[in-house]
Amino acid sequence: MRALSRPVHSPQTGPHQRLEEIVARHRAHPFRKPAAEHSRAAYSELMAIWDGRAPLVLDTGCGVGLSTLRLARAKPDCLVVGIDQSLDRLQRRKAESRPDNALLLRADMVDIWMLLAADGARPAEQWMLYPNPWPKPQHLQRRWHGHAVFPVALSLGGRLELRSNWRIYAEEHALALGLLAGRRAAVEAWQPEAALTPFEAKYRDSGHALWRVAVELD
Ligand SMILES: C[S@@+](CC[C@H](N)C(=O)[O-])C[C@H]1O[C@@H](n2cnc3c(N)ncnc32)[C@H](O)[C@@H]1O
Repeated sequence: MRALSRPVHSPQTGPHQRLEEIVARHRAHPFRKPAAEHSRAAYSELMAIWDGRAPLVLDTGCGVGLSTLRLARAKPDCLVVGIDQSLDRLQRRKAESRPDNALLLRADMVDIWMLLAADGARPAEQWMLYPNPWPKPQHLQRRWHGHAVFPVALSLGGRLELRSNWRIYAEEHALALGLLAGRRAAVEAWQPEAALTPFEAKYRDSGHALWRVAVELD
């Protein structure tokens, strides 16, 4: 039987008090960081495959890539790219057959967003499925919406969907979307019929409440 997971525990009882200030700082000071060599290599692999016409779907922090394969099967006209920094995770599911329109890459997502933006590439969809919550208040800037790259990720556009088992993460994400993209995004309770990712399955089976925020950025 799968081990149960504990709900996210944090001293935060609501969105971080410094969220607005930090997001404003990231909006005012564009993020710059040279991409790591391995991320550049992964990006070249993507660009060699993508014809620029098929709708591009990004599965950010895809873990073992199960959601990437499932999204690719559900969207045969799209190129679905799962990106994770952990080679170990990406290789765990090696045996499973991969649809032709799915690609799994080991890279830092921060670099991939920067490289896509530099090339003016526009994904059709961006999925952020159960990112690490980083529940300690001092780790706000490790959460995607607290990271300096977040304005760049939003500038790429497309339909963005975040899912989390920590309501405060989803609330902060929605607030940051309002501040950076002028989008009013609702935090919805989410009850999947079939889990899209292993973390979704684990959290659901552990009885956690799940949350999602979906928004059209274009
Ligand atoms: C909690 S897991 C969720 C995995 C998967 N989305 C799921 O729901 O099963 C978060 C994943 O994000 C990946 N990750 C975290 N920061 C990343 C980054 N900067 N670039 C790429 N992947 C990252 C981690 O390696 C990890 O696999």
